[in-house]
Amino acid sequence: MGTVQDLEARYIINTYSRNPEATLFMTRGEGSYVWDQNGKKYLDFLGGLAVNVLGHCHPAVVEAINKQASLLIHTSNLYYTAPQAFLAEALVESFKPGGKVFFANSGAEANEAAIKLARRYRSGRYKIITAENSFHGRTMATLSATGQPKYREPFKPLVDGFAYARFNDLESFAALVDGATAAVMIEPVQGEGGVHVASSHFIKGLRELCDREGLLLIFDEVQCGMGRSGKLWAYENWEVSPDLLTVAKGLGGGLPIGALVAGESFGNVLQPGDHASTFGGNPVACSAALSVLKVVNDGLFLADVQKKGQVLKESMKKMSLDYPDLVKESRGLGLIAAMELKKGVAKEIQIKCTEAGLLVNAIGDHIIRFLPPLNIKKTELEAGLKIFEVVFKSFADSQV
Ligand SMILES: Cc1ncc(COP(=O)(O)O)c(C=O)c1O
Repeated sequence: MGTVQDLEARYIINTYSRNPEATLFMTRGEGSYVWDQNGKKYLDFLGGLAVNVLGHCHPAVVEAINKQASLLIHTSNLYYTAPQAFLAEALVESFKPGGKVFFANSGAEANEAAIKLARRYRSGRYKIITAENSFHGRTMATLSATGQPKYREPFKPLVDGFAYARFNDLESFAALVDGATAAVMIEPVQGEGGVHVASSHFIKGLRELCDREGLLLIFDEVQCGMGRSGKLWAYENWEVSPDLLTVAKGLGGGLPIGALVAGESFGNVLQPGDHASTFGGNPVACSAALSVLKVVNDGLFLADVQKKGQVLKESMKKMSLDYPDLVKESRGLGLIAAMELKKGVAKEIQIKCTEAGLLVNAIGDHIIRFLPPLNIKKTELEAGLKIFEVVFKSFADSQV
């Protein structure tokens, strides 16, 4: 038997560049920390790419999973199960009373469901306008929706009917609307695109545009939802709500689950036979999600996320001022943040942080993204930021 890395090289299709350089594998997690095969401990500011909203192995999530797994792991969507119904109720009541949910297993699948619903809503209308630099998933429709040519180009021909407008540019969206347009879909905070936050003018203007033209407004909150922005749903920051909301990542506390939450007028658009998922609404995943939602959907918890978001923001801002030659800009909302660099050294910095015991995420060569657990202690957040600063300083010193 080879090492894990050998086995992976032989048996797994190589679609991920492992972090860093395929040498690190994780064996255990607790709270804001993970441990690798050598027992080295890391403060986790990568958060499973926005999945670990309650850190690792949160006791409430572990308990919910264990309890449900010992009762019923899977049956099928031909039967009723309680966790699915309770989670649907909690999601709808947190969004818009009167709405309804479709359960899927991932962000891409939640978006697929939203795209299918939008196409079914008004006959003859199929076009969906999305934003440049957006990310909506890797299935063919969500890839086609994704406003980044580098992901789309190798897989042409794409699914027809997507057009891309400039993020935060209302006129650019309005200019693409025509008689075939069904919907507008955006991430209120673009995550994979480098953490770009929607402006209030833009997001309010999109709502007005959709109302005026009879279009569905879809918010993809797969990454920025579930408390990440300091509100349960990111759209609450602008007091503008969409017609369809998609969530995944943080929803299951680490178990795969995605959901399309549809507002009242849209809950009956999809009919039996229109859409389905064998695993969607799985009782264990739904129980886990319900336990996460109970913790996150709490005023005090969210107020604390906002406070810690402020600490993160100020630290990023200070570093931008301290290192004007290296830092182009810092951006974020709540506990999703990014530092954009002037030089293409994000991966080098990520590796140095890992060596120093801090996991961060390089997006391409110029952006470092931070997605710490939402329940991270303030002292842990400060400790991680200190590590980052020390790494950054030694890197900056080595450049002169
Ligand atoms: C905003 C957004 N939408 C959709 C997706 C796709 O989610 P998944 O990888 O669970 O299919 C992602 C993943 O990064 C995302 O950030």
